[in-house]
Amino acid sequence: MKTAEEDLMHEHQVIQIALNILEKIGERSQKDEIANYRDIKDLLGFLTEFADKCHHGKEEGFLFPTLEKAGIRNEGGPIGVMLSEHTHGRNFIKQMQNSIEDEKVDKNQLIGASINYIRLLRLHIQKENSVLFPLIDNRLSASEQKEMYENFENHEEKVIGEGFLLFVNSDSSIIMSLNVIGVKSVKFMVLFSSRSRLLNT
Ligand SMILES: [Fe+2]
Repeated sequence: MKTAEEDLMHEHQVIQIALNILEKIGERSQKDEIANYRDIKDLLGFLTEFADKCHHGKEEGFLFPTLEKAGIRNEGGPIGVMLSEHTHGRNFIKQMQNSIEDEKVDKNQLIGASINYIRLLRLHIQKENSVLFPLIDNRLSASEQKEMYENFENHEEKVIGEGFLLFVNSDSSIIMSLNVIGVKSVKFMVLFSSRSRLLNT
């Protein structure tokens, strides 16, 4: 059985792939290639549902409170930093959503917010992987970790249920097929400029 730490680490890998795709969309928009409204909307939907509600929801609902009980500081400590970064991330998502209002893309706003979001999330993931997640094993008993993993599974079932399929297809050449099935498997296939790479299964 997966551990709570492995579950969160795996989700980080998935989120990092979505960040790479968002970065590509930003780069293409910068080069004046037309950004596809639907692709951006779908990707933002994925970041909201999976990265924020599902993944950050597990951290805020179960991981942080359990670590806090085990003596890890919230205010002025690592948990407080992580929470404030989640809030900043939500603001950047909101800005990106605003940039595609009325089915038109405000490229400057989109690019600015996406650069900030990508930078924030990459560093945030690095900090959690290296500082916070090792505390799960160091500070929590086997039964606390097992209970946390069960809570994660229930939460994920509630938030994304059987999973969803996201298909991003930009005319210019970004094709992303993202398949999140239940709590067990995530498949990505990304094609950039006709080069296909199976990034994660
Ligand atoms: Fe995280």
